Amino acid sequence: MCGIIAIVGKIPVTDRLLESLRRLEYRGYDSAGVAVIVDGKVKRRRAQGKIKALESLLAEQPLSGQVGIGHTRWATHGAPTTRNAHPHTAGRVTLVHNGIIENYAELKAELAARGHVFHSDTDTEIIAHLLDAELSTGLPPVEALKATLDRLNGAYALVILIEGEDRLVLGARRGSPLVVGHGKGEMFLGSDALAVGPFTDRVTYLDEGDFVAIDNDGARIFDLKGNLVHRPIAVIPASAAMVEKGNFRHFMEKEIHDQPETCQHTIAAYCDPVSLTAKISGDIDLAKLERIQIVACGTSYIAGLIGKYIIEQMADLPVDVEIASEFRYRDPALRSNTLALAMSQSGETADTLAALRFCQAKGLASAAVINAQGSTMAREVGTVWPIHCGPEIGVASTKAFTAQICVLTALAVAAARARGQIDAAEEARTIKLLLEAPRLIGESIGLEDAIRQIAIDVAKARDVLYLGRGAMSALALEGALKLKEISYIHAEGYAAGELKHGPIALVDENTPIVILAPSDRYFEKSASNMSEVIARGGQVIFITDPKGAAQAPAGAKVVVTAPACDPLIAPLVFSAPIQLLAYHVAVHKGADVDQPRNLAKSVTVE
Ligand code: AGP
Repeated sequence: MCGIIAIVGKIPVTDRLLESLRRLEYRGYDSAGVAVIVDGKVKRRRAQGKIKALESLLAEQPLSGQVGIGHTRWATHGAPTTRNAHPHTAGRVTLVHNGIIENYAELKAELAARGHVFHSDTDTEIIAHLLDAELSTGLPPVEALKATLDRLNGAYALVILIEGEDRLVLGARRGSPLVVGHGKGEMFLGSDALAVGPFTDRVTYLDEGDFVAIDNDGARIFDLKGNLVHRPIAVIPASAAMVEKGNFRHFMEKEIHDQPETCQHTIAAYCDPVSLTAKISGDIDLAKLERIQIVACGTSYIAGLIGKYIIEQMADLPVDVEIASEFRYRDPALRSNTLALAMSQSGETADTLAALRFCQAKGLASAAVINAQGSTMAREVGTVWPIHCGPEIGVASTKAFTAQICVLTALAVAAARARGQIDAAEEARTIKLLLEAPRLIGESIGLEDAIRQIAIDVAKARDVLYLGRGAMSALALEGALKLKEISYIHAEGYAAGELKHGPIALVDENTPIVILAPSDRYFEKSASNMSEVIARGGQVIFITDPKGAAQAPAGAKVVVTAPACDPLIAPLVFSAPIQLLAYHVAVHKGADVDQPRNLAKSVTVE
């Protein structure tokens, strides 16, 4: 959600705070702020809007000091205004926060009754008041922080400056991630490894409930109960720290184009190109497993749906896929010998994490398909299956989606072999198909010029329908999600067979209808759906392969011919056209592709 950075440095800190905030802007971007200790006094600058607004403000009103904190916000409590922008101050305390304090109304009432006056509508500000009150009783900073944290319900990652403590920054985490960065004579806190990436590659991931005090000499870390604890230092790979757009206009565009390479990395981690076998790490007995329960949100959920088609068909292993925010609040009927499988790019999505913990508490074995190694999910789950696609910055997920599908496909092959559903020859054949996927994804990205043209018309639409059958029905959901996320055009994804049960009523000459129809066993049915739509004046964008293009009924407004591929890898090959279509529609409309309104990359609130 929000991005956080804190630095106890040896040189002026303001530009470095801004550099980090620019990297964190993908986490939230409705306002930003910094606070710096200047000659013993905490001074802050805050601005509504993106980091640029804060940069301009700091150019007019500079701050110079060696210790400071910064924040880029995704609003929860309180409108995205300067008054609600972080850092928030009360007395000696100035702090920034990521998360939601659930008992804030009650705490605010209590503080107000004691005479505290508030200057924002946020839940965050009450934390500053509580801590200031504890400090006023004479408690030293770490003890005052512990006493404050004990009063909070909800989720937080916090970094805190205290006037009078010139070389100290406090931090705490519960429900929202926080990492410690170790420099030479300097220390850092950040909401993820990217935040501290410009300054150090040595990080400590704080555990749930930990709080910390950093100064120039190092970090003192305490657990939930206040015991001084040791947490290991990890060296983060350069790829996790260095994220640039290169020659691309947007991270999303770059990440779409990165997919041949990122999928290659993922496939290399899960497939042996010599023995042509699937390599799935961990001690989960795929032969004996009775069911997989996938829990996930958004695009990760859709990747899970595609995985269901592939795993059930190939391995005859039942897979349930459920939106984590529903799963965690109902009473799902779980059976032992079910693998709880969380899917998450960030590894921090609050609902997915809660659903995973729920399954673990019921005694299920757990695994997670995750991008962000070191994330909370990665640390709590039984088995981690990383997707190896590097940091994904664009809020609209693209390369993580295809990498997740690669992992699930390899899992399907491994499970099928373990369960005797395929023999070694068939395993080798499927692995060969997977190894071909990166090249074919590259060819699919080559359709970009044609798709850019199509996007000009789609950008005029009010509604767009995406249809497909089999795994393509799930990809239709992803096409619709991508389009609405970044272009703000209303879009729906449907299993094409459902068309006549309702959505066909939407069809008119102004509604583009994207039909995803590789020449697989469903092709004739998808072609019939296309005819039904054309008969009602619908503007069909038919995305198919060369064989499908030759057999397609007449009347499509445009036929996009993706490379020929086996149905097993069609979800991978057909992803790029729908991602590019959403991307170019959004660019044509002048939308903010990497930072669409109201969204944030990692949703660490319920
Ligand atoms: C995808 O484009 C979205 N921005 C969003 O749906 C995302 O996939 C979802 O929030 C889940 O995130 P996660 O994979 O990090 O758990």
